[in-house]
Amino acid sequence: MRDTAAMVTDLLTWYDRHARALPWRVGPGERAMGVRPDPYAVWLSEIMLQQTTVAAVKSYFTRFMALWPSVEALAVAEDARVMGEWAGLGYYARARNLLKCARTVAGELGGTFPDTAEGLRALPGIGPYTAGAIAAIAFDRPEPVVDGNVERVMARIFAVAEPLPRAKPVLRAKTAAMTPAHRPGDYAQAVMDLGATICTPKSPTCGLCPWNSDCQARAVGMQAALPARAEKTAKPIRQGIAYLGRREDGAWLVETRPAKGLLGGMLGWPGGPWGDSAEDLPPVAADWRALPDDVRHTFTHFHLRLALRAAILPMDCTPERGHFAALLRPSDLPTVMRKAHDIARAMLDADG
Ligand code: ADE
Repeated sequence: MRDTAAMVTDLLTWYDRHARALPWRVGPGERAMGVRPDPYAVWLSEIMLQQTTVAAVKSYFTRFMALWPSVEALAVAEDARVMGEWAGLGYYARARNLLKCARTVAGELGGTFPDTAEGLRALPGIGPYTAGAIAAIAFDRPEPVVDGNVERVMARIFAVAEPLPRAKPVLRAKTAAMTPAHRPGDYAQAVMDLGATICTPKSPTCGLCPWNSDCQARAVGMQAALPARAEKTAKPIRQGIAYLGRREDGAWLVETRPAKGLLGGMLGWPGGPWGDSAEDLPPVAADWRALPDDVRHTFTHFHLRLALRAAILPMDCTPERGHFAALLRPSDLPTVMRKAHDIARAMLDADG
């Protein structure tokens, strides 16, 4: 393995030619000409990219930037509007913290993001990973940036056989030791791009890799087997029932979920808690009909089987829970609730 400086130089040269064009990115050519990234755009993208793929984030990022082009604009947005635009991206605590953070920055910090990882870390929704990523990308601080792609690259380059997640501290230390003082923002993004395009989970294209002669895993033919992963425990299955009531005028009976907890602050369908068995708790007495198809959705810690009940509700009905939404946009619903909507609407339209 060559010394770190030589490896960094080769990676940056590779990045100058092969950097992915991403909507939140100031590419290496522009950076070289003195264009600086907008810290607001970097922050927004990094929050969206937490546990979420680049492919899923792109259109959300572009839409948010069009609707709220600055932290001041986002800070005065209505909560429900932001939650609605976030719908489908998942991990909804991020959207609540996004607003909290925007309001802190716009209100208490005069609209300026802190320019160090430590300062960023103090803001809502910004953990150590995200603080490092923003500090590196927006402010060229030499912070280690370790996402899943970077872990894979480091595990292979240094042939770290210890399985994830136990290997995380080692991989972070390796990343930190490699991070250069010169162009750390480009370097961080270069390692991510290397992991996303060449050092891929399956069948890495080592022939094209600027680090192929340095790679300790490749030297022993282990590249495809690393990083190792501890065996996952199977996710439990939880059951629930959702009640999809549509009033005669077309308004849907929805409820805003409690701010804390799963899908917190998002719109959803009334129903009992999700558990080992489904609890039958209709929000109002009506001719609820069981739908033949349930909704299956996988969350981080469990699989959900959501049975569906649908009914046409009379104009004078007064539910105990929820409120009627006259103009419900299905795209404002989190994915599991939108799946339920699509099934129930087809049934109610057909014979309701
Ligand atoms: N994953 C996390 N941050 C990223 C970024 N800035 N570019 C690409 N993938 C990422």
